[in-house]
Amino acid sequence: MTTRKDVILSGIRPTGRLHFGNYFGAIQHFLRLQEQDHTCYYFIADYHALTTIKESTDYFRQTLDMLRTYIACGLDPAKSVIYRQSDLPSTAELALLLGMITNVGMLERGTTYKDAVSKLPGGTTSGAEGNPISYGLLGYPVLMSADILIVQANVVPVGDDQRQHVEITIDLAQRFNHRFGEVFTIPRSVDRGAIRLPGLDGGAKMGKSENNDLGLLDDPATVLKKLKAVPTTTDPAPLTTESNAPDDVIPQMPPSVGALYRFLSLLAPEEVYLDFVGKYRRGEKFYGTLKTTLAEHVNRFNAPIIDKFNAPGNDDAFVTEFLRENAKRVSPVALDTVESCRAAMGIGRSLHRA
Ligand code: TRP
Repeated sequence: MTTRKDVILSGIRPTGRLHFGNYFGAIQHFLRLQEQDHTCYYFIADYHALTTIKESTDYFRQTLDMLRTYIACGLDPAKSVIYRQSDLPSTAELALLLGMITNVGMLERGTTYKDAVSKLPGGTTSGAEGNPISYGLLGYPVLMSADILIVQANVVPVGDDQRQHVEITIDLAQRFNHRFGEVFTIPRSVDRGAIRLPGLDGGAKMGKSENNDLGLLDDPATVLKKLKAVPTTTDPAPLTTESNAPDDVIPQMPPSVGALYRFLSLLAPEEVYLDFVGKYRRGEKFYGTLKTTLAEHVNRFNAPIIDKFNAPGNDDAFVTEFLRENAKRVSPVALDTVESCRAAMGIGRSLHRA
């Protein structure tokens, strides 16, 4: 999938507290990659967080907490270069330069933009209010292209929802190289091999904004409360499959029950999962014990993460310091790209940058 010495880059928006969906969708993949012999860049996309801003939000606080959680999960700031997007302000300059060769029509076909438009009253941008969507949101893929191209990344692990953005990046990089000379490495997206976790309400995707998430820092009381609240009143229809594999049985269950089984299959030993599939087949009354058993396994998973999150060495000062150090490591690479880009377009290199 990836060859030796790839330059891998991925960004994560600073959403605050991380949940199981983030772990099995992204963090697990990052942990695997950092053990291989690649250059890994992971950054907190705080500029991107601003594309839908309504009022001042403490994104810096959320960034620090997210980083402490990443460290608690095992991400190692010595093996991977973990930085904050806004500590590389040259990204904004590159986005501006790329914007000059970006078609507005292409951006209007972007999924992030189209989703935002579809949520507007009437689902259209032409109303009395004019177009309430920000220039920043329309330009989301241009900024994302700058993130990727600025470090000359060749591999971008993303989930399905981000694939189109990487396609736009490839298009812009090719167009730039064709018109102005070979400045950019052409990246490719690779699948994170992510497991998309359902929400506790049985919704298709776990999300903080959907309020259906199980947090990596949730304490035992919170875990139990959340699991007890999962609706399990629907009478289950008998399974028609003989297979016990999660991908075969879970789709046949009511969605919220399926969600419990999905978590159990990921967190508990196989025999525990199989035992509960058996109970389901026999139609026993077991939802109470299913929830307490699952809670136990969730707590076992969370306990070391909570401990490491609160460890004395993993405080704001530590996180701030490695952000500073890592920004220093990436900056020269980033500036070099932006300077080449300026020169290639003809405005010449900056006259005052070191
Ligand atoms: N848009 C990505 C997301 O929402 C985050 C992101 C920003 C990103 N810049 C990136 C991901 C560059 C990969 C590469 O998940």
